[in-house]
Amino acid sequence: MTQTLEGSRGAANQAGAHINANAYAEAQDFLPIKGMDHVEFWVGNARQAAAYYRALWGFTPVAYSGLETGVRDRTSYVMRQNDITIVLTAPLTPDGEIAEHVHRHGDGVHDIAFAVDDVASAWRETTTRGARSYLEPTELDGGDDGTLRRSAVHTYGEVVHSFIDRNEYVGVFAPGFRAVKKPAAAAKGMDLREIDHCVGNVALGQMDEFVAYYRDVFGFSQLIHYDDKVIHTEYSALMSKVMTNGNGRIKFPINEPATGKKKSQIQEFLDWYLESGTQHVALRTEDIVKTVRTLRANGVEFLGMPHEYYATLGDRVGDVGVPMETLEELGIEADRDEEGYLLQIFTRPVQDRPTFFFEIIERHGSRGFGVGNFKALFEAIEREQAKRGNL
Ligand code: FE2
Repeated sequence: MTQTLEGSRGAANQAGAHINANAYAEAQDFLPIKGMDHVEFWVGNARQAAAYYRALWGFTPVAYSGLETGVRDRTSYVMRQNDITIVLTAPLTPDGEIAEHVHRHGDGVHDIAFAVDDVASAWRETTTRGARSYLEPTELDGGDDGTLRRSAVHTYGEVVHSFIDRNEYVGVFAPGFRAVKKPAAAAKGMDLREIDHCVGNVALGQMDEFVAYYRDVFGFSQLIHYDDKVIHTEYSALMSKVMTNGNGRIKFPINEPATGKKKSQIQEFLDWYLESGTQHVALRTEDIVKTVRTLRANGVEFLGMPHEYYATLGDRVGDVGVPMETLEELGIEADRDEEGYLLQIFTRPVQDRPTFFFEIIERHGSRGFGVGNFKALFEAIEREQAKRGNL
């Protein structure tokens, strides 16, 4: 309860938060993943979504696919900032899986794609271990640009994991895309470097099923387990387990709702997304103050933290390189564990439904997820849920 908020220095060892120090070594190597390739969102209007990520978030449009490139059922914009690539895809017709996905879920994550060297092996190793195939190993001919190889399997809900091999492809993003020449200026003053982690929300009772899925099918191991003793407020609770691959580049927390007096934020997501899905993507920055200041100036909305949170924060986390007044002014949270500290902040949902949102995170040694902030954070979310009539 209150210890979760106060005793962050030892949070990792408190009852309810269990860290597996051998997680990376335990991960199996039958599926070597080099890192994240991209995250693809299926949205109602890709052109306007691209403008949002360009003008507010500082992403540069680098590639386009649609009617002008001979693609007649969808439009896609590829947006990039440093090592982060997001793809925004909208349907051009009322039929098909993209239109159905948007109709049912609103905007949301379709694909969390991995960079690999051998898409056939990745597909074979996962499907023989129980993954349902989404795309058999496929060679996409890019002419003079070479060949892009791709395969994909299903995970929780309607989310898929693509495996992508770019070793023999030199073109922009993928065959069927063209480079965006002279893109409109992206927002300046941003510092988003890479995708830190992607969080899945699954239905009550399914967390362990998908933990087992990432362990048995992908060879991941469990890094941390937070039970509902840690992640709860007076009203609601959730449970979370974090899965990681062998090189630690992929970190997937899996959440499920826990029963409480009122509705868990995870249940609110499930009620509006109508399915298990990706709850948030965390983007790592090396300058959270500059980045959040810019995002706020551009109109991105964040969860607010109460003054009381900052009144005790210094005692909990010590020096985090940023004055407490600056953290409070911008609504940035801090947490510390044995390995170091982190700074983080969460946006409000970035589409109309109270579903997907982003986290911005700056790490200084800590490999955790801000357990010391969970209680204060969830209380902030509950205030928003109450405004929406969803608590
Ligand atoms: Fe997170």
